[in-house]
Amino acid sequence: MDLDGARTLVAGASGALGTGLAQALHARGARVVVGGRRREPLDVLAAQFATAPVLFDAVDGDSCRRAVDEAVEALGGLDLLVVCVGVAAFGPALEADAAVVDELFAVNVLGPMSLVRAAAPALAASDRGRVAVLSAILADLPTNQMAEYSATKAALSSWLEVLRRENRRAFGVLDVRPPHLDTGLETRALAGTPPPLPDPRSAGEVVEATVAALVDDVRVLGWDPKEKKLVSRAS
Ligand SMILES: NC(=O)c1ccc[n+]([C@@H]2O[C@H](COP(=O)([O-])OP(=O)(O)OC[C@H]3O[C@@H](n4cnc5c(N)ncnc54)[C@H](OP(=O)(O)O)[C@@H]3O)[C@@H](O)[C@H]2O)c1
Repeated sequence: MDLDGARTLVAGASGALGTGLAQALHARGARVVVGGRRREPLDVLAAQFATAPVLFDAVDGDSCRRAVDEAVEALGGLDLLVVCVGVAAFGPALEADAAVVDELFAVNVLGPMSLVRAAAPALAASDRGRVAVLSAILADLPTNQMAEYSATKAALSSWLEVLRRENRRAFGVLDVRPPHLDTGLETRALAGTPPPLPDPRSAGEVVEATVAALVDDVRVLGWDPKEKKLVSRAS
């Protein structure tokens, strides 16, 4: 897609990948509105883009819809929705706390779905509509001590696959599945202690690859363990 002038909402822009993507897309000429749940970091970012932030909590579907509507209104339409919302939790599958599992699925699956559903009419009305969503390598490689986190990412990727097929004439769908990164996500987990993790890759690498994948209309960016880089895939 052509990013120049693209009317863009980055949801989860207060996070490391969200901030990086918002800045990279702005640098490529996109008109960026940032969204998330904490006003302070969003205000700082939005000031760089001369736009106003939109607020939502991913566990509240109505707030997701309202935030998207506000962004569409402010931008006069929507060409690109980027979803970088997510949270982790760790521990053995049988020991997971039910409230934690509920929140994990609400933030990682139901919230992103609400955001995309709310944005779909505006994206379909655009001549270059596109969605990019951060899932994770865990969608391909479910990992011990991360059963629920893995399950959320597999559910999200599965939903994105069908979304792409059902709407191929309306808008494009990019699913980004990075490996462990240097953003500190694991230190902000809802519960548990992370198991030993591989050396983290840099968030900047993922930002760069995601922007390139948007330009090239890639469907899935998956991790190639031999090449040690994100590569484009059909599914
Ligand atoms: N870092 C990795 O190793 C890695 C690897 C693969 C995939 N990913 C995925 O990449 C995405 C971004 O992760 P990151 O590494 O950039 O982590 P991050 O810096 O912690 O960013 C997470 C974002 O999610 C937002 N968020 C969490 N709960 C929310 C809620 N209830 N409502 C609204 N927003 C909420 C956070 O908002 P606040 O600022 O308000 O907390 C933040 O903007 C996530 O989906 C993650 O699963 C990360």
